[in-house]
Parts: sequence; C-alpha cells; structure tokens
Amino acid sequence: MESVKGKKVLLVGATGGIGRRAAALLRQSGADLFLTGRKANALSELATELSIPALQTALVDLQDPSSLECLSTSFFSVFPQIDVLVNASGIGIIKPLEQLEEDDFRRTLEVNLTAPFVLMKKFLPSMKQAGKGLVIHIPGVLGKVPMAGAAAYSASKYGLVGMIQSLREECKRTQVRFTLLYLGGVDSPFWDGIDLRVQRDKMIVAEEAAKAIWFLCQQPASGVVSEMVLQPFNHQAI
Ligand SMILES: NC(=O)c1ccc[n+]([C@@H]2O[C@H](COP(=O)([O-])OP(=O)(O)OC[C@H]3O[C@@H](n4cnc5c(N)ncnc54)[C@H](OP(=O)(O)O)[C@@H]3O)[C@@H](O)[C@H]2O)c1
Repeated sequence: MESVKGKKVLLVGATGGIGRRAAALLRQSGADLFLTGRKANALSELATELSIPALQTALVDLQDPSSLECLSTSFFSVFPQIDVLVNASGIGIIKPLEQLEEDDFRRTLEVNLTAPFVLMKKFLPSMKQAGKGLVIHIPGVLGKVPMAGAAAYSASKYGLVGMIQSLREECKRTQVRFTLLYLGGVDSPFWDGIDLRVQRDKMIVAEEAAKAIWFLCQQPASGVVSEMVLQPFNHQAI
C-alpha cells in the first residue's frame, strides 16, 4: 500500500453519498484534497467539517464546459500537479424507453461521459508530464452488465469504460494508472429519484463503497488495480 499522505487528490462529486465519505477517509489519511460539487451548501459544509480551505473547493456544473475550465484553473492555481483524480460524480436515470426522453439521454451522456472526457483532457496532461498519476472512475456494474431500463445510464457507463480503456492504451508507456470501480447498488441519494423495486437496506453501505475508493487510492506504485467489482450480496426485491 502506498500512503496518500500529502498527495494532491481531486475528488469530483465530493458532495455525493459515496464522494463525501471518501473525502472524509482520504482527509483522515492525510491527503491534500480539492473537492467539487454542484450544491454550494453541501460543498461548504463538507469543507468546513474536514477543515479544507474554500480555495481547495470548486462549485462545478458538469454540464457546463466553462465550469470545467474554471475547475482546472482553480485546481492548478492551488496545486502544482495532480496525483490522484477520483470521479465520484454521476446521475442515474433509469426508465423504460417509452418514458425515457431525449433530454434524459443527453443529460446522462453529458454528466456521465462527456464531463469525464473533459476531465481527462484537463488533468491527464499534468499526470503525463509528471510521469505518474492515478485516475479512478466508477462505471458501476451497469457499465459491464446490462439491465432493463438502463438504456441511457448503461450507454453512458459502457462509453466511460471504452474511453478509459482506450486512454489506458494511449498512456501505457507512462506511469499513469487507471482504475475502473464497478459498484453494484450502493445506498445513497443516487436512488432517491429512481422508481425501481430494490431494497436499499440490502445495498452496499455508502461508507463501504467509500472505503473501496480509499483503498484504491493507496494501491502500490509497482502495480495497478485495473478493475474492482464490489456488489451487494442481494438487493433485489422478493
Ligand atoms: N449508488 C449506486 O448504487 C451506484 C452504483 C454504481 C455506480 N455508482 C456511481 O458512483 C458515482 C457516485 O454515486 P453516488 O451513489 O454517490 O451518487 P449521488 O449520491 O447521487 O452523488 C452524485 C454526485 O454527482 C454530482 N453531480 C451530479 N450531477 C452533477 C452535475 N450536473 N454537475 C456537477 N455535479 C453533479 C452530485 O453533486 P451534488 O450532490 O452537489 O448535486 C454528487 O456529488 C456515480 O458515478 C454513480 O454512477 C453508483
């Protein structure tokens, strides 16, 4: 295990159910965090709770390209380089095709696929230049296995997997590592707007999903965890 102490870690989606717990764990381990979220109150409360200066936070709307531009400017005005990028942001719109609107599809692709692409454009060059770095994305198991109603979500997450696997090939002569974390259902606000028969009390506890991220941030420099799959034992409604 390699310590995260003093590492410059960008955590995108730090206000989410998984993100904020990962932020707390990484902070406890001494990481130098830069946090993003969309909700101003949630972001500032988290920063205060973890004693992270406001300068090391950014309000980001992942659907707004100028917002991502500002993020990279703010990040590099505070930190000279980036060691770890964790993308814990995303949206889930799970509906059958008859109810799935074009706007749902576009929004899902913008947040779950286009925004990660722009993040890679903004932050990979610094890692490549430094000759090291770690990128963690969370496609979830719906980026590996299809599910009814997940046409938009799975399209975005399969796309994310394809993009990262391709970038991994592009970077294979560098020391930049990529990890794809395939989570099954995690009990978080992600599910609040999803109308599906699932038992949230049988899902992975958000704290445990965050621990997986915390663990992955400390993977040994001599190796890489290319993929991790963490699923609930059983969360299907009976
Ligand atoms: N929960 C699950 O069962 C599960 C399973 C597999 C994979 N995943 C993946 O794990 C990641 C984290 O999920 P979670 O459970 O923590 O979800 P969550 O609690 O809903 O958090 C989602 C995060 O994404 C941010 N976000 C969403 N849309 C945004 C936008 N347009 N601009 C900026 N930020 C935006 C949210 O910001 P605000 O809160 O500030 O709006 C929040 O920080 C996602 O990629 C999700 O697809 C989740």
